[in-house]
Amino acid sequence: MQLPLPHLREFFSAISLYKKFYIIGFTGSLIEIITNLFGPWSAKLIIDNIMAAGTHKDQLIPFLVRISFFLLSLGLIRAWAIYLQIMYIEKGAHLIAKDLRNKLYEHILKLPFSFHNTTMTGDLMSRATSDVNSIREALGFGVLSAFYCATYYIGIILVLFYINWKFTLITSITLPILMYASIKYRDRIDPLYEKLQEEIARFTTIVQENISGIRVIKAFFKERMEIERFKRQNQVLFDTNMAIIKLQAFYHPLMDFLAAISTGLILFYGGKEIILGRATIGLLVAFSGYLSMLIWPVRHIGITLSLFQRGDVSAGRVLRLLSEKYLPDSGKVEIKPERVKGEVRFEHVYFRYPDSEEPALEDINLVARPGELIALVGTTGSGKSTLVQLIPRFFDVTSGSIKIDGVDIRDIPLATLRRLVAVVFQETFLFSASIRENIAFGKPSASFEEIVECARLAQADEFIRELPNGYDTVVGERGLGLSGGQKQRIAIARALLMDPRVLILDDSTSSVDQETEIKIHRALENLMKGRTTFVIAQRLSTVKKANQIIVIDRGRIVERGTHDELLSKDGFYRRIYDIQWGQTELLLRELSRERSGI
Ligand SMILES: Nc1ncnc2c1ncn2[C@@H]1O[C@H](COP(=O)(O)OP(=O)(O)OP(=O)(O)O)[C@@H](O)[C@H]1O
Ligand SMILES: [Mg+2]
Repeated sequence: MQLPLPHLREFFSAISLYKKFYIIGFTGSLIEIITNLFGPWSAKLIIDNIMAAGTHKDQLIPFLVRISFFLLSLGLIRAWAIYLQIMYIEKGAHLIAKDLRNKLYEHILKLPFSFHNTTMTGDLMSRATSDVNSIREALGFGVLSAFYCATYYIGIILVLFYINWKFTLITSITLPILMYASIKYRDRIDPLYEKLQEEIARFTTIVQENISGIRVIKAFFKERMEIERFKRQNQVLFDTNMAIIKLQAFYHPLMDFLAAISTGLILFYGGKEIILGRATIGLLVAFSGYLSMLIWPVRHIGITLSLFQRGDVSAGRVLRLLSEKYLPDSGKVEIKPERVKGEVRFEHVYFRYPDSEEPALEDINLVARPGELIALVGTTGSGKSTLVQLIPRFFDVTSGSIKIDGVDIRDIPLATLRRLVAVVFQETFLFSASIRENIAFGKPSASFEEIVECARLAQADEFIRELPNGYDTVVGERGLGLSGGQKQRIAIARALLMDPRVLILDDSTSSVDQETEIKIHRALENLMKGRTTFVIAQRLSTVKKANQIIVIDRGRIVERGTHDELLSKDGFYRRIYDIQWGQTELLLRELSRERSGI
């Protein structure tokens, strides 16, 4: 049998970390309950005393003053007790949530590419926000309310039995029905809450994707379509909420009515007892007072259980995320980055993406000697990006090995490896921060001079100085406000600052003007100097200079050699060359012939 709340349980241990706050909160609860229990009993005392006093009612004044003072003090104590509960239990729960958010965020950032590739950002966001909130509510208000309900219930029952056990038994008739209704309610409402959580995740994903992808939406004039998609999901959210509200609207009055039956029964029976002289009016009033108090925890238990249930669903989702594995990082070979020569060796490397059937790379063997430039050429989807992404271990090889200076990259601590290997991505991402901070991202300790020097080498210094705030200009998310070529040069400066031994350029900015093109080219030349470089080149000039050109087709190396060797082979490379650069070459040749003709 499965224990109740299998997932939420895992978080109960967090409570013990902050047990001080919980103990104070529970003590507050206990004090509040005790003060509440005095209420109906005081009413009984007043009524019975007035009834008993007969014609000498003026003698009762001192008694009334005393009891009023007593109740007033109780009120003060209760206020303080309520303060303790809210303050301390909520503090404990919020501290647990804070720790959990930190832990989750750290975990999400540490998870490998294979995870991020297949996970929706909105889903991650909703786990880090709304799921953590549900857990917090369960561990805060839920736990408090469970303690409160149980203690309150037991306290009232004890008092009722003490007052009159017969009355107690009679009123207990409807209690099982009330409890049954409360549990039934929970059974029906819980799946809806679960659905609500999923729909919120879907909703967040739509909003997040649309805001991130706003440029694509606008470019394709798809605002209408996306607004409709949003509206549909918003409607689903509304419908789910309405289904919950309908259940609440049905069960709450039903439970209220069941409680009224109890009260009716006791008034009837109690009235008879008074007539027969076996009970006082005060007793009956006190009794029905306690009875109405009893309904509260019984009704509340449903809400409490559903808080737990919701917390449990969220805990499950959070735990699943927390159980995602990191890339193994047990490498112990500490190599000094500055001593690394930069030989990169692929030995029988096979690679398959986690959810794919087909291998993306098969039997890759190559050696890049220190300082060499290796150009990867191949049709789209042939596996070029995949190949280079294995070097910084964005993914691990399925079999075979990759070695830097003879050391398997899996034996090098990840932190060292990522320092050794820098990547300039196909798509440049800049943070919404100043340009200076963006360049210094990998090395925040860098001096301003170093940053400027790297920007200069990256051919970026000039345009940065022309910006309104120079290096302190804040660029928007994804570098909005800068051109593609400018962004790329900032990314190059960022990589330069790291002074990597191995450099990877997944380079596809072919759509910049001639001048920028020349600048980027110069920037890259500076970047490649003295480093082993893998470049997925779109520029023929780069490919021509390469020490080795690796031609990839469908995940296999089909040709290798220098530009001249491969051209003369008349094979795969020749064909790619003809299609991709042949025309340009011809044009350039004609152009230079014309010019020299002038
Ligand atoms: N994250 C991924 N999960 C599953 N399959 C992938 C993933 N990324 C790429 N692939 C597949 O692996 C193969 C190689 O892709 P890769 O991105 O390496 O090609 P490429 O040579 O870089 O292409 P391009 O020139 O268009 O950039 C393709 O069939 C692609 O569909
Ligand atoms: Mg690619």
